[in-house]
Amino acid sequence: MRKKIVAGNWKMNRTAHEAKTLVAEIKAALGGFNAVECVLCPPFTSLGAVQDGVAGSPIGIGAQNVHWEKSGAFTGEISADMLREKGCTHVIVGHSERRQYFGETDETVNKRARAALAAGLKPIVCVGETLAEREAGTTFQVIERQVRAGLQGLAGADWDKLVLAYEPVWAIGTGKTATSAQAQEVHAFIRRLLRELAGGAADGIRIQYGGSMKPDNARELLGQPDIDGGLIGGAALQAASFVAIVKAGA
Ligand code: PGA
Repeated sequence: MRKKIVAGNWKMNRTAHEAKTLVAEIKAALGGFNAVECVLCPPFTSLGAVQDGVAGSPIGIGAQNVHWEKSGAFTGEISADMLREKGCTHVIVGHSERRQYFGETDETVNKRARAALAAGLKPIVCVGETLAEREAGTTFQVIERQVRAGLQGLAGADWDKLVLAYEPVWAIGTGKTATSAQAQEVHAFIRRLLRELAGGAADGIRIQYGGSMKPDNARELLGQPDIDGGLIGGAALQAASFVAIVKAGA
């Protein structure tokens, strides 16, 4: 039985000051609830505020990117050790916005995922097709390429720490959600691929859905057999909607 995992991807939103309020509201609304694993992924500058805010609760902390080198001349990048120091347990890798706007490739996604694992962070590796790719009928090819390349070289205990996120690019921030059937179809495809790559460990790997997940569609999406959580953007910026989604996973 896979424990569901819901992560809030705050993207470039919430200063440290604002984060303090949001995390306090989320913590209060969740109370002792831990039937679903919950992770907050604020901007780097708000990690400290979130670290302070979640103290004494089961809420995990994630970053939105990580570099593969341990240190050095990589202006604008951040290392896994720096994230660990701020209490991070998770890190999002290969989000479609990084791929679209910042030149992230399957190869750099793989390097980041492996560096995260080597440093004891759990990577949330994102994959997903664009609208043009879906309309051209290449969804499964694209997903297969992203999964195989993004996870190349993972072995042994890595699989237990891995989280995947299927995020159809056309559903992100658009209000257009994949139907639960569309999402489940891709999740099942990813699961089959994982069985080939990871063997028996595939049945323990959580695959999140992301893309306009909201309180009113979360229960149905999270009820699908291969959907093991959500990666939430817009709806993660308000405590009430985020906590409603987390609780919908129980
Ligand atoms: P959204 O974003 O929930 O605003 O669609 C999801 C994501 O990009 O992780």
